[in-house]
Amino acid sequence: MGPRRDRPASTPPAPHWLAPRQLGGRAAPVPRVALVGANGHGRWHRRVIGPLHETGRVRLVALVDTRPIECEPAAPVPTGVPVFTDHRAMLADVTPDVVVICTPPHTHLRIARDAVTAGADVLLEKPPLLSTAEHEELSGALATTGRVVQVGFQALGSAALSALTDAVSAGRVGAVNGIATVAAWQRPDAYYARAPWAGRRLLDGRPVLDGALANPLAHAVMQCLAVAEALGGRPVEPVSIEVERYRVRPIEVDDTAALRVRTRHGPPIVAAVTLAGEDFIAGEVIVTGAAGRAVLEYPTDRLLLPGEATARTVPGRRGLLENLLAHRADPQAPLIAPLARTAPFTAVLTALRAAPEPALLHGDLVETVGAGAQRVLRIRGINEVLRRVVDEGRLPSELGVSWATAPWRAEPGGQE
Ligand SMILES: NC(=O)c1ccc[n+]([C@@H]2O[C@H](COP(=O)([O-])OP(=O)(O)OC[C@H]3O[C@@H](n4cnc5c(N)ncnc54)[C@H](O)[C@@H]3O)[C@@H](O)[C@H]2O)c1
Repeated sequence: MGPRRDRPASTPPAPHWLAPRQLGGRAAPVPRVALVGANGHGRWHRRVIGPLHETGRVRLVALVDTRPIECEPAAPVPTGVPVFTDHRAMLADVTPDVVVICTPPHTHLRIARDAVTAGADVLLEKPPLLSTAEHEELSGALATTGRVVQVGFQALGSAALSALTDAVSAGRVGAVNGIATVAAWQRPDAYYARAPWAGRRLLDGRPVLDGALANPLAHAVMQCLAVAEALGGRPVEPVSIEVERYRVRPIEVDDTAALRVRTRHGPPIVAAVTLAGEDFIAGEVIVTGAAGRAVLEYPTDRLLLPGEATARTVPGRRGLLENLLAHRADPQAPLIAPLARTAPFTAVLTALRAAPEPALLHGDLVETVGAGAQRVLRIRGINEVLRRVVDEGRLPSELGVSWATAPWRAEPGGQE
């Protein structure tokens, strides 16, 4: 299908973004950016792109969505920007330099592959891809086309993460024996009702994997992998992945999970997360060593190092789109979250794909709070269990939790 709304019949006066920027005396064309998936979290991307468009740093050349574009008061669609319902029609018509992809996870591979084949660089939302085979396919397309993919793990651009890894590398926690993350969120009924893929393992026969680990708390897992990467000086190679998955709703994936990844060269990584929490834990990345522990609250960039009385905010986040633009202008400027860096994260998802259906927790164990679309479910005692998992590095079944089930185990490297 073509655009819903074509460019205006009469050409308006050339806006400022048509004037090429002057760089070192040479004119540099303004990057032409398209957004695929413009509702949902795509509205956040519209708010990022809007000021860049207004200031002439980029030119927004198209929006694509299979549904009508929702109003976003903070980032109105600029006059004359065409809207498409099909990304291929958009790629053929407007030939963007950069495509931001913010569609459901099971659509990522096809759209990203088409975009790079059409000559665009990509900012691809997390989770980037749903299996190592998909990762390899897209990596192959990048090698063939020479294009790049930056993945939407925005917390990787935080100065607080760098402060944490610098402190750990400088020995502030001593020899590291564990990296862990804990998060306790609540998601209401409306969250699962918002899209057909929400809470699904498969949609139309295609993997979606919309569990807590794979999607809303993907950042928590990726931050741990980034710490492990910084410690080891090389990408993490998972050799065993153990997971216990639970759910309190009639969904196909986990809303509560405990994960342990053993790696070839570094300490184990443990994640304990829930969307059915009692008390809110925003998301802590905890690095434990012989000399103490460091805690980064990754959504707020608050960092607590051994010997410090209170956590401090470490300000500063580099935006992923701006970083991608900087990399395009100067390939020496490294990407924050290149596709290759996310291979271990996708290895974890690959293991989750084969894991059995999460155990349903119900009865007195689960408490209902509120009503209607904002109703939430909470697992009694879950915060204490999650804390013990990350403190002791043991999964709920290993802690003797009464409702726990045996872990599922995969060996991505084929050996331990
Ligand atoms: N980085 C973050 O912190 C963050 C936060 C939220 C969501 N996300 C990610 O963003 C992506 C989208 O999530 P969401 O919650 O906004 O989903 P959503 O379902 O609410 O919105 C997705 C939008 O994409 C559109 N769409 C679906 N298929 C399409 C296609 N083939 N072509 C064009 N448009 C299509 C839908 O109509 C919808 O408007 C997911 O990968 C999600 O994990 C990332």
